[in-house]
Amino acid sequence: AKKKAWSGRFSEPVDAFVLRYTASVDFDKRMALVDIEGSLAHAAMLTKIGVISEKDLEDIRRGMTQIREEILAGTFEWQLELEDVHLNIEARLTALIGDAGKRLHTGRSRNDQVATDIRLYLRGEIDEIVNRIEHLQEVLVAQAGKHWNTIMPGFTHMQVAQPVTFGHHMLAYTEMLERDRQRFLDLRRRVNTSPLGAAALAGTTYPIDREYSAKLLGFEAVAQNSLDAVSDRDFAIEFCSAASIIMMHISRLSEELVVWMSQRFGFIKLPDRFTTGSSIMPQKKNPDVPETARGKSGRVYGDLIAMLTLMKGTPLAYNKDFQEDKEPVFDAIDTVKDTLRAFCDMMAGIEPQAETMHRAAQMGFPTATDLADYLVRHGVPFRTAHDIVGQTVREASDRGCGLEELPLETLKSFSPVIEEDVYDVLRLEGSVQARNHLGGTAPEQVRKQVERWEKIFAER
Ligand code: ARG
Repeated sequence: AKKKAWSGRFSEPVDAFVLRYTASVDFDKRMALVDIEGSLAHAAMLTKIGVISEKDLEDIRRGMTQIREEILAGTFEWQLELEDVHLNIEARLTALIGDAGKRLHTGRSRNDQVATDIRLYLRGEIDEIVNRIEHLQEVLVAQAGKHWNTIMPGFTHMQVAQPVTFGHHMLAYTEMLERDRQRFLDLRRRVNTSPLGAAALAGTTYPIDREYSAKLLGFEAVAQNSLDAVSDRDFAIEFCSAASIIMMHISRLSEELVVWMSQRFGFIKLPDRFTTGSSIMPQKKNPDVPETARGKSGRVYGDLIAMLTLMKGTPLAYNKDFQEDKEPVFDAIDTVKDTLRAFCDMMAGIEPQAETMHRAAQMGFPTATDLADYLVRHGVPFRTAHDIVGQTVREASDRGCGLEELPLETLKSFSPVIEEDVYDVLRLEGSVQARNHLGGTAPEQVRKQVERWEKIFAER
């Protein structure tokens, strides 16, 4: 067995199974490139304060350049006996450059090193996630721009409520995604704080310049307490929380897509490349992508719960439990990124079926509220109007027709204020057009919102 970095005081080598049980290299090697970045900043700082020489720094840079190349080329030999990404890279560095490699870890612990790595890694992934959210927003706004005037039924309790426009519906999700985007950008500031220099837990005896290494790494702030710096993972919990919320939003959209695609609805067509068939039923075309996304929201919630649970009983400062933070965070990153990617492609390809949606919107007396509002405009108190319209709906229901199909005399028999112009408000087009104020579903408003979003996109 190889000699461990810390084996000085040990009388026997670590048990082979224990080694496998406690090692993290299989998953934390994902952070290799940021680990190198962190080490280079630390080494530069040590040089600046005169703890290692310019020559050492040069050697470290040269060694790390080679290691980076080996990792990118896939030729780097990861060794389980070396436990984690940090000790693997350090061992290779020392093999390549000798003593300078052994000096790198001066004034540093793997505790502040790993905390630095996760933050750097997560920061980069947050930026990618924000990019993908922005892309999905653009796709939804483009659909809204095409369908600003396409009428569909709006539901409450899954019952037809009032007609809305398909564009309005797409813009509702755009708003949700904007809050998700803001959440990621906001928590990014707390991710972007440097723990480097906290060392094991108490700080170090060297006259380190924490601001310097933080600046080299692009951190916006320096953690102000060494105990907190090495044992804080709430930034990762926040990340999993924001990831859970966006997955919840995408899961709701998925549910709608699944429903819209069912034969009973037929509101949309999905391009074949986002559906799959059945091994037994030749006619099938299943909405697998939205269903998979809906299912994957569950695993991201699991990642959040895993993070909260793993942290809750840990005393200050570092505990090995924290090593368990990586897989949930990585899983949440992968799932959110993949889901966003799938949705960017898929949402661009959905084809709303305007006629079917229009027909569906006519079922269930969706303009009853419009009729009540009409009566109110003619001086009837709203509660009385509500009652009158209720009776009108019953009449139409008995006759098996829509409100707009009742003859004028019949309508007049319920209220004398009703005139020919009532048919304008009973039609779906009139109903949506009438909701013409900020945030309303009127086509004109949807177009304004599309323009507002396009301006936002142009300024991003
Ligand atoms: N692999 C460890 C982790 O992910 C690195 C820190 C280990 N520190 C220690 N004192 N054992 O947390």
